[in-house]
Amino acid sequence: MDPSASAEEPLPGERSDSPGREDTLRPRRFADYIGQSELKQVLGIAVTATRSRGEPLDHVLLHGPPGLGKTTMALVLAEELGVRCRITSAPALERPRDIIGLLVNLQAHEVLFIDEIHRLNRVAEELLYPAMEDYRLDLTVGKGTTARTRSLPIAPLPLVGATTRAGALRSPLRDRFGLVQRLEFYELEDLQAIVERAAGLLRLQLEADAALEVARRCRGTPRIANRLLRRVRDVASVQGQERIGPELVHEALSLHRVDGRGLDASDRRLLTLMLEGYGGGPVGLETLAAGLGEDPATLEAVIEPFLLQQGLLQRTSRGRLVTPAGRSHLGWPAQQAA
Ligand code: ADE
Repeated sequence: MDPSASAEEPLPGERSDSPGREDTLRPRRFADYIGQSELKQVLGIAVTATRSRGEPLDHVLLHGPPGLGKTTMALVLAEELGVRCRITSAPALERPRDIIGLLVNLQAHEVLFIDEIHRLNRVAEELLYPAMEDYRLDLTVGKGTTARTRSLPIAPLPLVGATTRAGALRSPLRDRFGLVQRLEFYELEDLQAIVERAAGLLRLQLEADAALEVARRCRGTPRIANRLLRRVRDVASVQGQERIGPELVHEALSLHRVDGRGLDASDRRLLTLMLEGYGGGPVGLETLAAGLGEDPATLEAVIEPFLLQQGLLQRTSRGRLVTPAGRSHLGWPAQQAA
């Protein structure tokens, strides 16, 4: 069955907003999904094995920074299994009836994708445990001394949970996932291939060097690569340019304050605050978050991972530190030995 072609109504709690621009560029099968080779291998084996046994896929937890393809992989899994994927996110499951409505209406083997799963409240989480383990819902009927638990069978479901903060998941929930996989930042050549694929789908004449330039500046993240590519396309169409070369990419992305290494204004604001306000650190996460007007969890899960991976920032037991490479990237002189 084609999961996106169904005209069925969304289930209660299912995300029913329009699919969004990202959808046109999403790969739909393992074969089109570039990069994350270990993830594809692990999930490919699980899909083939469960298909041959006719069983539901084990529950999958995908974690890692935003924009690396967790939702895309859930959709690919459903497509590979030949079933529909129901997409929701923890904040949409605030009331018990939201998750109950979703679970009782699922068809057998449909993939249930819960984004930001670390944000599930305790009640929702406890409803999920028996659903994940025994495909049943334990409902409390009545109040006070007459309250009774009733068990309701539900369709066997593979649950795919996604989170940017695996450490924030309570262990009883984390332990119920049979497959736990981290998505990594993409390699440059994979990003170049992703940009070239997207350019093809958008019917752009993008030179290989230009694709590489977008790839260098997308923070290792396909979602950002596709966003930057659309900005480059805007500049090309305003200038009436058919062919897009690296100079045009440079011009368009400088306009959007994305530097040659892909750091954006938020990244530079963080490093600059550390250098100007705290001599490059060490400085605590909370202090930095307050100084930037950001939520500490967002800073930790969204902004920091790329800077850490690039070796521009370091986490130490005494706080965050700008590395020599970070200083140099922002044009600061090397620190004198004390
Ligand atoms: N578009 C976004 N992510 C992708 C990926 N991993 N492979 C191919 N195209 C993509």
